[in-house]
Amino acid sequence: MTWTLRPLVAADLPDLVRLEGELFGAAAWSPQSLADELTGPGRTYLGADEDGVLIGYAGLWFDGRDAQVMTIGTDTRRQNRGVGRALLRELAAQARAQGATQLFLEVRVDNDPAVHLYESEGFERLGRRRRYYQPEDVDAWTMRLELTA
Ligand SMILES: CC(C)(COP(=O)(O)OP(=O)(O)OC[C@H]1O[C@@H](n2cnc3c(N)ncnc32)[C@H](O)[C@@H]1OP(=O)(O)O)[C@@H](O)C(=O)NCCC(=O)NCCS
Repeated sequence: MTWTLRPLVAADLPDLVRLEGELFGAAAWSPQSLADELTGPGRTYLGADEDGVLIGYAGLWFDGRDAQVMTIGTDTRRQNRGVGRALLRELAAQARAQGATQLFLEVRVDNDPAVHLYESEGFERLGRRRRYYQPEDVDAWTMRLELTA
C-alpha cells in the first residue's frame, strides 16, 4: 500500500474527528474546533491518504511572520512507516514557501516518538512550559526550527 500527501478538505472531517479521538483521547480537539481549524485564517492542513483512507494529518498556522505546528498524528496502525516525518517535512516546506522564518511547536515532554521526530528534523528545544497540558499536569517542550538555514 502506498500513501500520498494532499490538502485536507471539509469532507475529511469525520475521519479527522475519528483519528483525533484515537490519538489524543480526552485531550482531543472537538469536532467544531477541528472544523474551525480546517478553514481558519492562515491555516494549512495536510492529510496522508492511503487508497482513499486518511491515515495521518498535520496542521500549520502562519501568522504572517512565524509558523506554528498546530497538530500532527498518524493512525496507530500506520505509525513508524515515515508518514509523520513526511507530514512534518511538508509542513515545514509550506511554511517556508509562505514566508515564515521560524517554525514553532509544543510537545509533551513524555512524548518520546514525537520529540525524537522533531529533533531528528532539526528542531531545537527552546524551553519547558510547566504543567502546560491540563488536566494531565504534564510539562511541554517548546521547540523551534529555523527555516532560513
Ligand atoms: C509522533 C507521530 C506523529 C509520529 O508519526 P509516525 O508516522 O510514526 O512517524 P514516522 O514513521 O515518520 O517516524 C518518525 C520517528 O518517530 C519514531 N517513532 C515512531 N513511532 C515510535 C514509537 N512508537 N516509539 C518510539 N519511536 C517511534 C521513529 O523511530 C521515527 O524515527 P526514525 O526514523 O529515526 O526511526 C506519531 O507517533 C503519533 O501520531 N503520535 C500520537 C499523536 C502525537 O503525539 N502527535 C504529536 C503531538 S505534539
